[in-house]
Amino acid sequence: MGRRFQELVFTPLVKQHQQERGSRRQYERMAEQSPSGSALGPDEQAFIALRDSFYMASVGETGWPYVQHRGGPKGFVRVIEPGLLGFADLRGNKQYISLGNFDHDARVALFFMDYPNQTRLKVLGRVEVHEHDSQAPALIESFRPEDKSSVVERVILIHVEAFDWNCPQHITPRYTAEEIQEVIAPLTERLAKLDAENARLREELRARSKIERA
Ligand SMILES: Cc1cc2nc3c(=O)[nH]c(=O)nc-3n(C[C@H](O)[C@H](O)[C@H](O)COP(=O)(O)O)c2cc1C
Repeated sequence: MGRRFQELVFTPLVKQHQQERGSRRQYERMAEQSPSGSALGPDEQAFIALRDSFYMASVGETGWPYVQHRGGPKGFVRVIEPGLLGFADLRGNKQYISLGNFDHDARVALFFMDYPNQTRLKVLGRVEVHEHDSQAPALIESFRPEDKSSVVERVILIHVEAFDWNCPQHITPRYTAEEIQEVIAPLTERLAKLDAENARLREELRARSKIERA
């Protein structure tokens, strides 16, 4: 866990619990040894570029946290710079919950999951919404997806403030249909060959028994 991540999530009450339960010293040592920067390194950037979904938590003015799942083609969340992410906010169910929350508090917590490899990356950042401002048209254009039926209403940029990788424990490996197809491709091919061979042998048998009967 990076120093910056600790600074943001280890609130006084959190630290009090760590103190009472004996883990405070360990995390202090960890903070001393970890780098202080918040920019995403090559590993984090490559990881995000391969994701087809993420979870985004925001907080409304009532204080309630809210989590939304966002999905798209792999790489729909772009790393614009090591400290800046962006994604297209598409026309959807018109609830605008995250959008309303951003007006109250720009801070978000993101969760990027790689289930097959039991890996997750947490990112904390501040959003910047581009919809009606002077930068919006160019940004919206550059984030337009290949699927022309999707309407990009705005682009959401996220200024990264901290990140943290988690241990793989308790992440059940799960596979998308695409990932399963990849894994079973050799089996599918083998099955098709066996089917063809089976059909050919049956045909041969039929022909042979016809000759014997004649
Ligand atoms: C027709 C339609 C298409 C949608 N497409 C996507 C999509 O591609 N990716 C995504 O994450 N959410 C998609 N959604 C969900 C919405 O965009 C949803 O409105 C948005 O995530 C809501 O955010 P909120 O809960 O913060 O209000 C779609 C919803 C609808 C109704």
